Amino acid sequence: MKKARILVTRRWPQAVEAVLAERFDAEFNTSDRPMDQAMLADALARFDAVLPTVSDRLPAALFGQGALAARIIGNYGVGYNHIDIAAASARGIAVTNTPGVLTDCTADIAMTLLLSVARRAGEGEREVRAGVWTGWRPTHMIGTKVTGKTLGIIGFGRIGKAMARRCHFGFDMDVVFYNRSRVDPAEAARHGARQLDTVEEVLAAADFVSLHCPGGGENTGLIDARRLQAMKPSALLINTARGDIVDEAALASALAEGRIAGAGLDVYAAEPHVPEALRQMENVVLLPHLGSATAETRIAMGMKVVDNITAFFEGREPPDRVA
Ligand code: DGY
Repeated sequence: MKKARILVTRRWPQAVEAVLAERFDAEFNTSDRPMDQAMLADALARFDAVLPTVSDRLPAALFGQGALAARIIGNYGVGYNHIDIAAASARGIAVTNTPGVLTDCTADIAMTLLLSVARRAGEGEREVRAGVWTGWRPTHMIGTKVTGKTLGIIGFGRIGKAMARRCHFGFDMDVVFYNRSRVDPAEAARHGARQLDTVEEVLAAADFVSLHCPGGGENTGLIDARRLQAMKPSALLINTARGDIVDEAALASALAEGRIAGAGLDVYAAEPHVPEALRQMENVVLLPHLGSATAETRIAMGMKVVDNITAFFEGREPPDRVA
């Protein structure tokens, strides 16, 4: 039987590329440079499957009038707000993602950011590396205690729950959350958390706010100037979800004016661009979208894509179909 023609838009872990190369007629982007819109349009026109990542944009325009060969988009990642899934569906193209396998590592990076901002780890590291540390003193680089504080979570999906467990059971924190749909209180309690009715209530209660909702759509700009104002002046904002959830200009202003105390960011609205104002601030810890960046998770994500497209081309329902 003729193998399906697939295009992989970035380099993936070697172990996964090997499986793809064996199972499919696979083309890899060996340069690993992001593909532009013309290249992605060409890929959709020529390949049976296109396997993109969060670094690719697939807006409605790419699914326009021309003939498309693609029958499935196997996204490498759980978030898929970079793909216009309505436009893909309208052209009869299936879309899959990779949920579950990056839950722990993403919650771990949220925890890394929370601890780093609270305990000024970025600043401290910069001081030591610059060779300007003058030694221990009682007033040196005083941070904020984490244990026993209140964490506010926005979005109580897999990653939000994993973050709740880390903070409640590991750091003795009171965990409150906002979620669009109601969560059974017994289920919330299993994760050491309780649901509040509004985003504002969570923001007002929290010493640390951690975002775990999807990006795009109605969540774009969810954390705007008004909601930043609703946070405690001593509070820290952590974002490992999607950059567009936060109004970055409003965040920079809130930080500059001391309306909130700090931020830890792994994601940005227009990656890899990081606003200059944020890069200048000592009380902001900035990571380059590392949430899922462990060997184990990146391989597991790739194997999920393999499972999804294998099922599709064998005529079975892909396990992680989102459209
Ligand atoms: C995801 O899976 O959505 C991540 O942000 C990419 O690692």
